[in-house]
Amino acid sequence: MNNETNTYVVDHRSGAEMQRLIDQDHLMNQTMGNLFPGDTDPSSLHSVLDVACGPASWILQVAFKYPHIHAVGVDISKQMIDYGRAFARVRKLHNAELRVMDVLQPWNFEDITFDFVNARLLEWFLKEQLWPPLLQEMLNITTPGGTIRSTEIITNETNSPAFNQILALIWEGWKRDGRAPQTAPNAYVGAGTKMGALFAQAGIPVSGEQEYHLDWSWGAPAHQQIMRDIVVLYTLMQPYLVNTVQVVKEQEYQLLLQAMERELYAPEFKGIWHYKSVWGRKPL
Ligand SMILES: C[S@@+](CC[C@H](N)C(=O)[O-])C[C@H]1O[C@@H](n2cnc3c(N)ncnc32)[C@H](O)[C@@H]1O
Repeated sequence: MNNETNTYVVDHRSGAEMQRLIDQDHLMNQTMGNLFPGDTDPSSLHSVLDVACGPASWILQVAFKYPHIHAVGVDISKQMIDYGRAFARVRKLHNAELRVMDVLQPWNFEDITFDFVNARLLEWFLKEQLWPPLLQEMLNITTPGGTIRSTEIITNETNSPAFNQILALIWEGWKRDGRAPQTAPNAYVGAGTKMGALFAQAGIPVSGEQEYHLDWSWGAPAHQQIMRDIVVLYTLMQPYLVNTVQVVKEQEYQLLLQAMERELYAPEFKGIWHYKSVWGRKPL
């Protein structure tokens, strides 16, 4: 693939980021309802891979709920993988295997193929041109007839001017460092909008799609949790936005973060987070 290694927009060694991902996983799983899409029978699965699994929350639930499945998670972050391994040891999840792995380097799964490959929220470290080779790696290690599923954000609509301004800065950063095309429109368009086309390009016929719309307006059950997620994420993204892509000055960003926190906490705050899963089967 190429020699790039750490392109994640947040320091993946951060404890705050790990906790954010654990909380976010609970919320996303609740909204998605099941660990697998409705047309997948978990009793027929042998090996499942979660690509860039973070602290391994999703894959360890698979290991817990389905002891017959060999559940494998890989991530570049040693801290997150160590946490996942410790959790698996305590829960005696002997069918779980977690590996530190940079998925932007050539993959080495000579010993296993997978009948379900899961990948969620990869946009945050994946540049535009790296989606096709990554999907190709996923296809290579999937058994014929096996499923590949991607879950990515469509957008996050809010009436908070400061939140919207930060999202626009992130988008500007995406364009500057090649996560989004230079010619893309001005408003953020998440990778969830292009996964169907990318699957088709990679030769993975799409067999299902599902959109999720999570209300996090003031007073909604998810308000506090998503607000905390956003405040932590956007705070941890400061070095990326200020130093790496240089779309904002530190002081201006600090003021935006403060304004955003006030606006997200106001009773008139409205927000809906849209994300989407797309899945398809490797041809026989
Ligand atoms: C937004 S998080 C998503 C984590 C998990 N998929 C989830 O949905 O909770 C992105 C993850 O990608 C990992 N990551 C970043 N660059 C990576 C790379 N080159 N190879 C493998 N994992 C990477 C980060 O450490 C982080 O855990």
